[in-house]
Amino acid sequence: MKKPKIISVINQKGGVGKTTTAVNVASYLSKDGYKVLIIDADPQANATSGVGINKDGIRTSLYDFLVGDAKLADVVFSTDTDNLDILVANSALASLDHDLSGRDQREFVMKSKLASSDFNKYDYILIDCPPSLGLLTINNLTASDYILIPVQAEYYALEGLSQLLQVVMAVSKEYNPELEIIGVVVTMHDKRTVLSSQVYKELASYFKAKMFKSIIPRNIKLAEAPSFGKPISEHDRWSKGARAYKSLTKELINRIGDGV
Ligand SMILES: Nc1ncnc2c1ncn2[C@@H]1O[C@H](COP(=O)(O)OP(=O)(O)OP(=O)(O)O)[C@@H](O)[C@H]1O
Ligand SMILES: [Mg+2]
Repeated sequence: MKKPKIISVINQKGGVGKTTTAVNVASYLSKDGYKVLIIDADPQANATSGVGINKDGIRTSLYDFLVGDAKLADVVFSTDTDNLDILVANSALASLDHDLSGRDQREFVMKSKLASSDFNKYDYILIDCPPSLGLLTINNLTASDYILIPVQAEYYALEGLSQLLQVVMAVSKEYNPELEIIGVVVTMHDKRTVLSSQVYKELASYFKAKMFKSIIPRNIKLAEAPSFGKPISEHDRWSKGARAYKSLTKELINRIGDGV
């Protein structure tokens, strides 16, 4: 039976473009005909609202799916984009780390849930991680085949990355030896600034072939799309931001290969 490719979009730094990347890559994958699920694993629920679902109306979320007895059908919604579903978040997720902490196998809760054959209809699952390296993030890493790291083109861009890589290495050693960095993408890039190109160069000297060639520009259309509850592909598909995410998605598919 075919299994979905599971990709965590991760960086414990806040506001670097994780959600924007998860939603828009997911949407371009779905435009390519793949069946895609976004898992909103952030109590802020930005991915949930970013695809047009009113987060204030959500009573049952990923939290109840992971620690309660919610069924998949209770927490997965289809979106206005064909082939794109979302497993929704709400603020209840904020207490997940605490509520899981006493459990046996607490790092494997997400993985064991995703092992259900109900998920096999998806080609790709993108997990939008919260800006932290707590137990929820560890669960996401344990459950994933790949991680995708967005890095904002700014002065402190590289700060925190070594801590992130340490956690990734620890998880791959302890819980998930298959975990692979599929790539690093620079976000909110401003080609007029020297700083932006310096950030890319510095990252490239460390991550080498793991760097995605596609660079996500700072683009107002990307920033405003969530307020319409739409991925950029639906909001303004000719914008620079849209073209960049389309190109990133193509690179990602090529890297993962034809395994799906
Ligand atoms: N390329 C871009 N151009 C302009 N604005 C962007 C771009 N990418 C993201 N933004 C905006 O920057 C803010 C942070 O982006 P986003 O929510 O994707 O980051 P995040 O890493 O998911 O944040 P958090 O850590 O809080 O979950 C949002 O308001 C978003 O709309
Ligand atoms: Mg986010």
